[in-house]
Amino acid sequence: MTILSGKARLAGIIGWPVEHSRSPRLHGFWLQRHGIDGAYVPLPIRPEAFALAVRGLAASGFAGANVTAPHKLAAFEICDTVEASARRAGAVNTLVFQDSRIIGRNTDGIGFVANLRAHGVDPAAGPALVLGAGGAARAVIAALQDTGVTVTVANRTRTRADALAHDLPGLLVTDWSARSAAIGDHALLVNTTSLGMLGHPPLELDLDPAPAGLAVADIVYAPLETPLLAAARAHGLRPVEGLGMLLHQAVSGFAAWFGVTPVVDDELRRFVAGDLLAR
Ligand code: ATR
Repeated sequence: MTILSGKARLAGIIGWPVEHSRSPRLHGFWLQRHGIDGAYVPLPIRPEAFALAVRGLAASGFAGANVTAPHKLAAFEICDTVEASARRAGAVNTLVFQDSRIIGRNTDGIGFVANLRAHGVDPAAGPALVLGAGGAARAVIAALQDTGVTVTVANRTRTRADALAHDLPGLLVTDWSARSAAIGDHALLVNTTSLGMLGHPPLELDLDPAPAGLAVADIVYAPLETPLLAAARAHGLRPVEGLGMLLHQAVSGFAAWFGVTPVVDDELRRFVAGDLLAR
């Protein structure tokens, strides 16, 4: 255990519930690796107490915090300054307290793209097909569009996909029932739905129409290899596991709060994956 001094830098993750978050483990690993006088703690905060708690953390000398469900929209609202990444994603997952100001950014999309690159996948190689239209989808789609690539979204509830396309100009929409057939026209397929997660049904998808070399990314990381990624591997495609997105999205916040830009490597991955590796 690290012993803190009176000058220790503090950050944490705000969620409700927050007990399943892997972020304290992730940031704790980097704090220890770099011998930093600081701590990153879980902050279980009820929705009705969110604004009070954030202002309290800022007033208590915290350097900032990550924000997870169900607070990402409330976090957007409370910021004095919202960076472009958060405006495009429509949500804030990283708060930086600077002087008496609250600055919000969204690192989910950057984390997703960085994870693709770490797997040797160029996000701008060709059109992308994104399944799902929730908050995670929006961050991923915005980041992909920022690389210059054309993105198509398919969602079970079509109206949610249409609403996303309204907010993100250039986004194309296709029917959920057409998702398998649509794969053939794409270089990258991304699952942002909860399908395939432990305790959820698998994503039903026919990979036979996939072009050679299709990259298949899942943002689900429990299990580490989802049924979709296993199918991609069996088809000789390029699977990209979701845990890397979690690891890469954390880099920007850590750098802002603790003053060191950390590296994502296999030692970190194994430490954060923990119990998932045994499954
Ligand atoms: P998040 O913000 O984490 O992305 P969300 O807003 O609840 O979470 O989004 C979950 C996504 O998984 C949605 O795209 C959802 O589709 P709907 O918009 O139609 O609800 C998708 N999803 C969840 N269960 C699904 C299922 N059984 N079949 C198809 N899509 C499903």
